[in-house]
Amino acid sequence: MSLHVTILPGDGIGPEVTEAAERVLAVACEAAGIGLRTDHELFGGAAIDATGDPFPEKTRHACLTCDAVLLGAVGGPRWDEAAKTGGPRPEKGLLALRSAMGLFANLRPSRLFPGMEDASPLRPERVEGTDVLIVRELTGGVYFGEKTEGTEAASDLMPYSRAEVERVVRVAFEAARGRKKHLTSVDKANVLATSRLWRHAVEALAPDYPDVTVDHVLVDAMAMHLTTRPARFDVVVTENLFGDVLSDELSAVVGSIGLAASASLGEPGKPGVYEPIHGSAPDIAGQSAANPAGAILSAAMLLRHSGDAPEAAARIEAAVEAALGQGLRTRDLGGSASTEDFTKAVLAAL
Ligand code: NAI
Ligand code: MG
Repeated sequence: MSLHVTILPGDGIGPEVTEAAERVLAVACEAAGIGLRTDHELFGGAAIDATGDPFPEKTRHACLTCDAVLLGAVGGPRWDEAAKTGGPRPEKGLLALRSAMGLFANLRPSRLFPGMEDASPLRPERVEGTDVLIVRELTGGVYFGEKTEGTEAASDLMPYSRAEVERVVRVAFEAARGRKKHLTSVDKANVLATSRLWRHAVEALAPDYPDVTVDHVLVDAMAMHLTTRPARFDVVVTENLFGDVLSDELSAVVGSIGLAASASLGEPGKPGVYEPIHGSAPDIAGQSAANPAGAILSAAMLLRHSGDAPEAAARIEAAVEAALGQGLRTRDLGGSASTEDFTKAVLAAL
């Protein structure tokens, strides 16, 4: 078995955490007898500096022809500044990548790791048992709708088709089947037409999954429930913007955004993209203070979803748990371990 991975380090802490993840991936693959081949390509701000384009043709080709993409993060104040005078935005590369690869389903698991109760802003008895998979729609909605820019008036359209909703909701139902068989669909059906379409599509698919319990929660109430009783949820499915916001919230509830991994998937058999959910964290870039766990756990998701190697994935997850279990904490978790300290501990546990 062999695996061809395109690595897009990106900007800020992106290269720091992807380097850590690549080292862990290499060791896990070797132990599992998987032949790993990696290529590094320019993406985001780094690609703008070199080529003027956040998602150059060479990078696009590499992403479309590999088995999986491991991505760091993109963006930074330098390019934000340049964008004010019409320069390209690194984040545009992200949307172009998701769209080019047809990555409509973004899987964002958040679980309380053993012994991490103290890292949660919630009381231990509230956060205990939290293990939620957010399935976020990734190529539709307000991020991709028509925009009019302006300093006096502006608009962002939020279009969804029935087919776009159904394909991501099916991914969520399937995921629920492999977990606690409880699906929560989050929308704003009391106000938004797209949310009423969303709810209708979920209700119409539910009979295909009689073993899964479905409920609907409005997004504002959901934001509250995630801080008051996060442990009552299993799989949560929602549209692009709501999923973006709720998954950052939930990542903090179980400890830190630095721990959160994600998988972005398209049609079966097509390459997926694996990345931590955090951004380029310019405030801590270059200080070896970034928590690499989210990137490392994304490499585990890569092995599970694109490498057909669930055991190797589980070994990486156990190694991250072991490193955390030893009390090794990066700054985001209130400790002083460096990116390298944490990575070495994971490699040792592996
Ligand atoms: P961010 O996620 O980069 O940082 C938010 C806060 O969390 C910061 O205080 C940061 O230091 C901390 N943090 C994030 N990841 C961490 C890690 N691994 N270890 C320790 N602490 C960590 O979000 P922010 O500051 O809103 O955005 C910074 C840049 O990243 C912007 O240019 C934004 O557009 C971009 N961004 C890119 C994303 C991507 O590439 N997928 C996603 C989100 C933001
Ligand atoms: Mg986000």
